[in-house]
Order: sequence, then C-alpha cells, then structure tokens
Amino acid sequence: MLLPPARLDPLARARRVTVLTGAGVSAESGVPTFRDAQTGLWANFRPEELATPRAFRHNPRLVWDWYAWRRDLVARVEPNPAHRALAELETIIPEFTLVTQNVDGLHQRAGSRNVIELHGNISRTKCFDEDRVVTSWKETGEIPPRCPHCGGLLRPDVVWFEESLPEPALSQAFERSTHCDVFLSVGTSTVVQPAAALPFMALEHGAIVVEINPDATPLTSRATHVLPGPAAEVLPELVRQWRAEAP
Ligand code: APR
Repeated sequence: MLLPPARLDPLARARRVTVLTGAGVSAESGVPTFRDAQTGLWANFRPEELATPRAFRHNPRLVWDWYAWRRDLVARVEPNPAHRALAELETIIPEFTLVTQNVDGLHQRAGSRNVIELHGNISRTKCFDEDRVVTSWKETGEIPPRCPHCGGLLRPDVVWFEESLPEPALSQAFERSTHCDVFLSVGTSTVVQPAAALPFMALEHGAIVVEINPDATPLTSRATHVLPGPAAEVLPELVRQWRAEAP
C-alpha cells in the first residue's frame, strides 16, 4: 500500500487534479531523460549545446539531425503504464489537467485528452524566421529543409533553452496549478523554470502535492507526500488505490 487510507482519502475526494510530468515519465518507454548521458552518435554533445537558438544559427544541420534522431526514437517507442495510469485517472476526476514538459506526445498516444504541452511537440515543425507551424515542404536534399512560405530554415516546434514558453499554455498551467485540490509532480527534476515553479504555486494555494520520483528534487522536502520509485510502478498502484477509495 502506497498511502494509508487516512492519507488517501483527501486524494480520492479531490475534484480538481493537476499533474506535471517530466522526462522521467517516459524513461520506462525507452526515451532517455534530458540529463541522462547521451549515447552512441550523440555521446559527445550536451542537450544544452544543441537545444538553443544559438546552436541552430551556428550549425542548423547538426541540430536538425539530432532532432530527427530523437523523432525517430520517439516514433518507435510505446506509452508505458505510467502514461496509461494518468489517462485512466483523467476518466474519474471531474476537472483534470495534465501539464507536460515532454515533447514526445506519449500522453496523447496513451489516451490523455486534456494535455498542456509546455515545451512543444517534437513531431511538429515550424519556421525559424517566422515561427509559423509548417506541415509540408519540398524535400530538395537540403538539411534543414526550407519553409514553403518564406524560404527560412525549418526547425522542430519545441521550446529551446533561452526561449520563452508558448502562451496560452503557460497561463493555463499557472491557472490550473493555483486552482487544484491535488497536484502530482511526476518524473521531473523540478529545476527548469518556469515549470519547476508549478508545484510550489500549488502548495502555496493549499493543494496536496504528491511527488513521484526515484530521486530527490528541490520539491522533495516540501511535498505533502513523496512516493519514491519509478513512475511506471508507482502510478498504476496509486490510481488503483485512488479508484478503490473514490466516493
Ligand atoms: N520514474 C519517475 N521519475 C524518473 C524515472 C522514472 N522511471 N527515471 C528518472 N526519473 C526522474 C529523475 O530522477 C529526474 O528527476 O526524472 C527526472 C528527469 O529529469 P530531467 O531529465 O531533468 O527532465 P525534466 O525534469 O523533464 O526536464 C525539464 O528541461 O532539459 C529541459 O526542456 C527540457 O523538458 C525538459 C526540461
């Protein structure tokens, strides 16, 4: 049993639940977390050196190729029990919001509906110059390909270091974090702002905050409950108990 009945009861009664997920939730699907060592071809690069506008300006081909590799990797993996447990939780909570920092789309593939993508989605492409989402372009062999509208270079529609987060996703995430009964923080290192502020905002507004992560983070000492362990093991069990206790 993860939580004794007295502690589970307020969770089971919650009407408004907000969840923040990070790379750890996709770890068991085989998507390496950002701070894991890169492997193979990309072992000598740090994400912080590839995921920036400066890196793209300096070497657009290198950045495009890195994302093409990650896009292929994501297309080949499947949602895991953690993604599926969150999709199931959504079906029993009246107001449920899933805020994710992940760009892999695995929550939606697992059946989650109300998903706020704070850092974009790796399967979308946009124009570097005009920021416009582009769905098709001519393959001429040039890498990166060019925008069919303005001829600018194409890039993945993800938020890079040094870039601001998309509106209205950010303001919705703030709103859902300050108006919830329960806030789950799952598989995130809680260091990258502004997402890292969300569980603390929830705490300040009186929510029960539960952290699920095998490792300690800056949230660990402040969370109402800490459930250490892999998300793919802890979340299905938590949702099973939650269902069993629901009024
Ligand atoms: N289950 C739950 N948590 C896990 C698991 C697991 N199986 N495996 C690892 N974790 C935890 C790690 O302990 C760590 O705290 O997931 C977290 C992953 O941390 P990061 O790699 O820093 O990922 P995240 O917090 O999502 O990073 C935030 O930073 O690099 C940018 O834009 C990128 O969206 C990313 C953001």
